[in-house]
Amino acid sequence: MLLLTSMLAALPAGWWLARTVSRGLMLPAPPPRDLTHYMRTKSLRDYLLDMWFKNLLVAQLAQLTSAPMHFDYRNVIRKTWAKYQPTLFIMGLHRTHSESILGGNYLESKQFNDILVFDFYDQYQNLTLKTALMLKWASEKCPQAKFLFKTDDDVLVNPWMLQRVIKDHPRAQLLGYSINKTKLHRDEYNKYYVPRWLARDDFIPQYLSGTGYLINGAYIKKILQTAYLVPMVNVEDVYITYLVAKKTLNLTLTHDRRVSPMRPWVTFSCLYWHLAAAHSVRPSEILKIWPSLKIIGKEYNRKKKVCFGYEFFNKDIFLY
Ligand SMILES: *[C@@H]1O[C@H](CO)[C@@H](O)[C@H](O)[C@H]1NC(C)=O
Ligand SMILES: *[C@@H]1O[C@H](CO)[C@@H](O)[C@H](O)[C@H]1NC(C)=O
Ligand SMILES: *[C@@H]1O[C@H](CO)[C@@H](O)[C@H](O)[C@H]1NC(C)=O
Repeated sequence: MLLLTSMLAALPAGWWLARTVSRGLMLPAPPPRDLTHYMRTKSLRDYLLDMWFKNLLVAQLAQLTSAPMHFDYRNVIRKTWAKYQPTLFIMGLHRTHSESILGGNYLESKQFNDILVFDFYDQYQNLTLKTALMLKWASEKCPQAKFLFKTDDDVLVNPWMLQRVIKDHPRAQLLGYSINKTKLHRDEYNKYYVPRWLARDDFIPQYLSGTGYLINGAYIKKILQTAYLVPMVNVEDVYITYLVAKKTLNLTLTHDRRVSPMRPWVTFSCLYWHLAAAHSVRPSEILKIWPSLKIIGKEYNRKKKVCFGYEFFNKDIFLY
């Protein structure tokens, strides 16, 4: 009897085990991504030639890539750090061409005058295009800018620390979080997958993380013109900072850990204070951290000595 019950119990357990194992062995399909347009042309010039934009405005320092649906991201940024920093949002069109999203973006750009919408499908694989359009816009409309900060809409920028970073490296050509001696991702399941037919070399000696990097205004035009000659790849940061700026133009990439692709483990405002940028911060979290950051910023403007005693935590091991 005991044997029978344990056998009965073993049946479903065995079935469950078999199912789990077979599921584990059967890989899901790789994420859909459309790179076919790169087969037609890898020339940035071809893409930008007939690109038109639907709306634009004003002269900027920070430009960030955003997605059509990210209304809440933009609104929080407008209410917080963008108040201290001329900021412009760049995006393409939503894939579905949905009237309501398009209409929403249109109203939003009319209301805030801080959005550039370009005529391409907005999706991760087209980020290179987005950044190139940002450079083109900046070089034409804002040639006097000292520095251009390229970042994303899930980044919390600390404008006081960003100013400080610029002050510390006034002559930097490109500055950001330097990632050294890496390889391109050849695994289709990876978000940053680059097929070999798109980029031959596996090894990347140095690039700056695309979550945020500064470009010296004196080099924006040069970088764009050079990009016209360098075949495009779908990873924006490797393309602009390594393939174009470093490899082709021999520009220097300056490392500064404060422009971080990471964020602190714990939400202490003083940990955020020491970063010029923190990545993967949701709008609700930005709203939560911002008031204390603002208080520290005011104090910093008065006496420069703030968050005393936190120097020990000023290391990448306290970030993720
Ligand atoms: C990326 O943009 C290009 C240029 O507009 C377009 O041809 C291509 O279809 C876009 N890719 C996707 C997947 O939307
Ligand atoms: C990468 O290399 C640069 C320049 O050689 C160096 O200054 C920097 O500290 C390195 N980056 C990291 C994350 O260690
Ligand atoms: C690249 O620039 C460095 C200085 O930043 C210089 O030492 C080196 O000779 C340059 N290389 C080429 C090929 O021009």
